[in-house]
Amino acid sequence: MALLLLLLFAVFSVVTADEGAFIGVNIGTALSDMPNPTQVVALLKAQQIRHVRLYDADRAMLLALANTGIRVTVSVPNNELLGVGQSNATAANWVARNVVAHVPATNITAIAVGSEILTVLPNAAPVLVSALKYIHSALVASNLDSQVKVSTPLSSSIILDSFPPSQAFFNRSWEPVLVPMLKFLQSTRSYLMLNVYPYYDYMQSNNVIPLDYALFRPLPPNKEAVDSNTLLHYTNVFDAVVDAAYFAMAYLNFTNIPIVVTESGWPSKGDTNEPDATIDNANTYNSNLIRHVLNNTGTPKHPGVVISTYIYELYNEDLRPGSVSEKNWGLFDANGIPIYIMHLTGSGVILANDTTNQTYCVARDGADQKMLQAALDWACGQGKVNCSDLVQGQPCYEPDSVAAHATYAFDTYYHQSGMAPGSCYFNGVATVTTTDPSHGTCIFPGSGGRNGTFLNGTMSVPSSNSTASNSVRHFGGGVLSSSLITGVLFLLVGGIFL
Ligand SMILES: *[C@@H]1O[C@H](CO)[C@@H](O)[C@H](O)[C@H]1NC(C)=O
Ligand SMILES: *[C@@H]1O[C@H](CO)[C@@H](O)[C@H](O)[C@H]1NC(C)=O
Ligand SMILES: *[C@@H]1O[C@H](CO)[C@@H](O)[C@H](O)[C@H]1NC(C)=O
Ligand SMILES: *[C@@H]1O[C@H](CO)[C@@H](O)[C@H](O)[C@H]1NC(C)=O
Ligand SMILES: *[C@@H]1O[C@H](CO)[C@@H](O)[C@H](O)[C@H]1NC(C)=O
Ligand SMILES: *[C@@H]1O[C@H](CO)[C@@H](O)[C@H](O)[C@H]1NC(C)=O
Ligand SMILES: *[C@@H]1O[C@H](CO)[C@@H](O)[C@H](O)[C@H]1NC(C)=O
Ligand SMILES: *[C@@H]1O[C@H](CO)[C@@H](O)[C@H](O)[C@H]1NC(C)=O
Ligand SMILES: *[C@@H]1O[C@H](CO)[C@@H](O)[C@H](O)[C@H]1NC(C)=O
Ligand SMILES: *[C@@H]1O[C@H](CO)[C@@H](O)[C@H](O)[C@H]1NC(C)=O
Ligand SMILES: *[C@@H]1O[C@H](CO)[C@@H](O)[C@H](O)[C@H]1NC(C)=O
Repeated sequence: MALLLLLLFAVFSVVTADEGAFIGVNIGTALSDMPNPTQVVALLKAQQIRHVRLYDADRAMLLALANTGIRVTVSVPNNELLGVGQSNATAANWVARNVVAHVPATNITAIAVGSEILTVLPNAAPVLVSALKYIHSALVASNLDSQVKVSTPLSSSIILDSFPPSQAFFNRSWEPVLVPMLKFLQSTRSYLMLNVYPYYDYMQSNNVIPLDYALFRPLPPNKEAVDSNTLLHYTNVFDAVVDAAYFAMAYLNFTNIPIVVTESGWPSKGDTNEPDATIDNANTYNSNLIRHVLNNTGTPKHPGVVISTYIYELYNEDLRPGSVSEKNWGLFDANGIPIYIMHLTGSGVILANDTTNQTYCVARDGADQKMLQAALDWACGQGKVNCSDLVQGQPCYEPDSVAAHATYAFDTYYHQSGMAPGSCYFNGVATVTTTDPSHGTCIFPGSGGRNGTFLNGTMSVPSSNSTASNSVRHFGGGVLSSSLITGVLFLLVGGIFL
């Protein structure tokens, strides 16, 4: 046993010895007013984003990224995969044009060969491993193979029975591709690229997966998911999916391949049937994800083993087809204005603006009027909130509604309590938001006037189309979630989950 542990430690120390996990950002370009590469790079620099993934190898973008210190993952787009996978010469040419021509000025650190090929373009699957090998041999020929890793992003939906994670395995139909692929990753000391979308897992679970569990919000210990085989406790969906991938690899006898999450995020806006695609949830997910990753927490199966992660994505992409949420995964709009300002205190310098102290406690939409009134009365009484500003003639009297007055009282109480956990609850009729409810002369507690601290005006140069539009992305979740649901249900039945 001790030997085994030692062995595991030795294997993973390759990863842990590194300087720690990083957060990167994906740059999709399906915007009607796509900023030009200079503008994109200006935004990356201002926000201190040091790692990006492109969905292609756009020349202008790679030139703009030169001498910036930003690490770049470039991609062989899906529509070029067949060519690259069928011809060593085409692959060599691709590497010459898109990698060799740009390094070392542009720090290209990885090539993502295709995007979710097995689920999005299964007819190209038979040449996927050849594509990886051809690209790699071209790197070897240019002596770049040690600095540029080669891999291919997988949708987590090819992992079946992913809860409990210890029972996860890859869809067996894909073993003929996955086994040689994992051998390739192992022999080239590369990593598994995995797209992880707790949003889809949550959405498709019919409320079996609690929202808090998807958003990395603390769960009471008795609500944590427990893997009954390993007795490991899972506090969030992200970790459970990553561990499912480790177990699925181990099932095929690959135990030393690290994982990099190539896409993860949460949409800030959705259709009426996507009620949880909200700014607050997107902010909560991405803020918590960043903190989790940069803390080098690892997962329950491999504590301390870093899981570097690329957030999906830099910009909202208005030209992407599909539901409203599909166009709203971005951290920024085309002008470089943040869609929301994240709470990142304690996670070091990334995405410059941190407004942990800029949260407000407001009445929940649609809350019961009587419960609101009772909570308002409590706050202004026992809660010791000074409610004199709510009196007629005072600044916060208008609008004269229970919800507006309750919001003022709740927020004051929340800030009086130092925004302590539990101080924005009021029997469930209150909720935390990042939107300042101040209006007119009614300035709410917590409103520090730190309004619009982001990058005012730095992105105002007119934009032009410069980068190729990207291929289909992140169809993750569908299959995975059904197995996650089964797993969670299994635990429910087993009485552990509740
Ligand atoms: C490129 O990125 C790698 C990996 O982070 C780093 O080790 C290397 O120093 C970088 N090279 C330059 C020239 O910045
Ligand atoms: C493929 O091309 C590389 C150079 O890019 C070369 O080193 C390698 O031998 C070639 N492999 C085959 C099977 O032709
Ligand atoms: C496994 O993959 C095959 C081939 O793509 C697919 O037809 C099948 O539905 C998948 N099985 C499950 C359970 O998702
Ligand atoms: C994994 O290794 C075990 C023990 O060496 C062996 O019995 C099993 O067949 C291997 N499985 C695969 C998929 O190679
Ligand atoms: C950070 O990691 C430590 C262990 O290394 C863990 O105890 C702590 O809970 C983690 N914090 C967060 C916010 O994940
Ligand atoms: C917000 O970000 C900008 C640009 O990086 C920076 O100048 C400013 O100081 C940041 N504000 C805060 C409060 O961190
Ligand atoms: C937030 O508040 C805490 C305690 O009041 C303070 O120490 C910290 O500096 C504040 N952070 C920001 C970003 O204002
Ligand atoms: C309550 O607030 C009002 C106006 O802001 C102020 O004049 C008054 O002194 C406060 N009362 C107490 C008890 O602090
Ligand atoms: C903050 O900005 C918004 C929109 O730009 C504005 O409506 C609001 O009055 C501002 N709040 C403060 C306190 O300056
Ligand atoms: C931000 O931009 C607005 C409009 O462009 C301008 O009125 C405001 O003064 C700017 N604020 C700062 C801090 O530069
Ligand atoms: C930018 O791209 C859009 C959509 O592909 C296209 O309609 C538009 O004409 C392009 N604009 C320029 C300046 O190329």
